[in-house]
Amino acid sequence: MSKSIYPVRRDSDLVRLLTHLRGATGPASGEALAGLFGTSRAALQKKIERLRSLGFGISAKSGVGYLLESTPDRIDALAVLPLVRTEWMASSLLALEECGSTNDEAKALAQSGALAGIVVTTEKQTAGRGRRGRIWHSPAYENLAMSILLRPNLAPQDAGLLTLMAAVVVSEAIFDVTGLQSILKWPNDILVQGKKLCGILTEMAADPESIDWVVVGIGCNVNPEGMPNDLADIAISLRMALGHRVDRARLAAAIIESMEKWHDRLVGHGPGPVLEAWRSAPNILGQHVTVHPPPPAERVTGIAEDLGPDGSLLLRLPDGTRRIILAGDLVMEA
Ligand code: BTN
Repeated sequence: MSKSIYPVRRDSDLVRLLTHLRGATGPASGEALAGLFGTSRAALQKKIERLRSLGFGISAKSGVGYLLESTPDRIDALAVLPLVRTEWMASSLLALEECGSTNDEAKALAQSGALAGIVVTTEKQTAGRGRRGRIWHSPAYENLAMSILLRPNLAPQDAGLLTLMAAVVVSEAIFDVTGLQSILKWPNDILVQGKKLCGILTEMAADPESIDWVVVGIGCNVNPEGMPNDLADIAISLRMALGHRVDRARLAAAIIESMEKWHDRLVGHGPGPVLEAWRSAPNILGQHVTVHPPPPAERVTGIAEDLGPDGSLLLRLPDGTRRIILAGDLVMEA
C-alpha cells in the first residue's frame, strides 16, 4: 500500500521552497521567499507549516526569516529533489511508502508513457527482485531502493553497456557522498571488503532496432548496523564499512546526478568513456573467477581479462583461449 500515488515534480512549490532553504547560507527572509514564489506572506506561512507537518525542522525568527534546521531521514521527493542538480533526470519522483518492487512500478510508468528520468523510490519493498529471478531482501527505512526510467537512444545490443554504466554511476555516487572506494564486480555488483554493498537490476523493452525503455533498479545497503546470519559473510552496509550512518537522500541525489552525466556521455560519445571508467575503477579484472552463465551453458573458470566493446567479459581460459561472456554470475576464486 502506498501513501503517495503521484509523482512529485521538481518544479513544485514545496520542492522549490526546500531547495531555496537548503541553499541559503542563513535565515531566508519571509518577504524575499514570498516574492520568489509570487505568493502572499500568509500563503508562504501555510507552505512552511505544511513542511513542518512533514517533519522538516524550520525555525522562524521575526524580522530575520526562516531557517531549515533539520530534515527527516526519508527517501521521498521532498527529501531528495531539493538536493538534485540536473538538467532532465529526476524532473519528477514517485515515492512509495511501500511497494512490491520499484522496478515493477517504474516499468508500469514506462508502459504508460512516462518521460525518461522519472525516479521511483520506496521505504519498504515487499517483493524486491534481484538478477536471475532471485529475491532482494532489504529492511524497511534503512536502505536505498530506487529505480530510474531511461529511454536511451541506443541499439538493443548495447544494453550491456547500460549495466556497466549503472555500476560506474553508483560507485561514483558512493565515493562522492562517503569517500568510500568500492569494487566493481562484473557485470554490475558493488563490493566493499569482498562483500556485496549494492545490487543493480537493469530491465528493458526493445524492438530489433531500438530500445523503448530501460529501468535501472538500485538496491544499496545503507544504514543497517549488521546483517542477518545467513548474509553476514556475503553482504555489508555502508554503515558497517564506515562506522556511521549515511544520509540516504544525499546518496539518492548523487546517484541521480551521476546517472544523468553518464547516460548523456554514453548516448553522446559512445561506449568508450563508460568502458574506460569501469576499467579504471577498482574492479575484478586480473582475478581468477568462475562464471556461472544462464543455463544450459556450463560454468567456466579463468582470468577476468578485460571488457569487450559491448560490455561483455573477456575470460582467459587455462588452455590460453579467450571466451566472451555475455551474461552470468561471477564467483571469485582464491
Ligand atoms: C541483484 O544484485 O541481483 C540486483 C538487486 C537489485 C535490487 C533493486 S532494489 C530496487 C529495485 N527494485 C527491485 O525489485 N530490484 C531493484
